[in-house]
Amino acid sequence: MSAAPSPIPVITIDGPSASGKGTVAERVAVALGFHFLDSGALYRLTALSAMKHGVALDDEARVAELAGHLPATFRDGSVWLAGENVTDAIRAEAVGEGASKVAALPGVRAALLDRQRAYRQPPGLVADGRDMGTVVFADAATKVFLTASAEARAERRYKQLIEKGNSASLTALVADMQARDARDSARTVAPLKPAPDALLLDTTHMDIESAVQAVLAHYHSKQ
Ligand code: DC
Repeated sequence: MSAAPSPIPVITIDGPSASGKGTVAERVAVALGFHFLDSGALYRLTALSAMKHGVALDDEARVAELAGHLPATFRDGSVWLAGENVTDAIRAEAVGEGASKVAALPGVRAALLDRQRAYRQPPGLVADGRDMGTVVFADAATKVFLTASAEARAERRYKQLIEKGNSASLTALVADMQARDARDSARTVAPLKPAPDALLLDTTHMDIESAVQAVLAHYHSKQ
């Protein structure tokens, strides 16, 4: 199910959780004046919607039905679901955990496909996720796979949580990170893996700005 060739440029940025790809993707989009797709937010919204409707996260048909008709809007940095501001709610660890579960269901992935592709609008798109370069925008000219060691990613998440006044355990975060990576990489549909033509960027020892510059340089080298 690959997209038809399109003249509208797409930069795909895939990678594991807390690799920094969301921040990098957003900054690249701002630098180029491109649209931005946070595809993980759609899986998080699907999980939250299922939880709110009391639908089991492994009930593929019902979760796919919800995913296909998500009453979600993105406005000025906020995310709304059926008129409720869920910007913070979708970032909760439990919802991320749920997102990883519903994302393993082929029917759910299929239900979200057209919605993701509709973000490809002029002058261009930066798409952040797990399968942007391998499935959703397989014809993109610029693909990046951003990664960092599980320890480095857990440490970044730990700092974010502490800064927000939450308590957290670094050991537990490393374990959660590894479990989620394993599930995202082992699933049969659209597993987390670099596209063969993706630039691999290991940000373990790299700051955000250097990663942004590396992605922009890669994009310009393809023009
Ligand atoms: O990027 P994130 O942490 O917001 O993503 C939440 C979950 O959604 C993650 O565990 C994997 C899944 N996901 C996916 O399977 N495919 C995508 N394109 C984006 C996210």
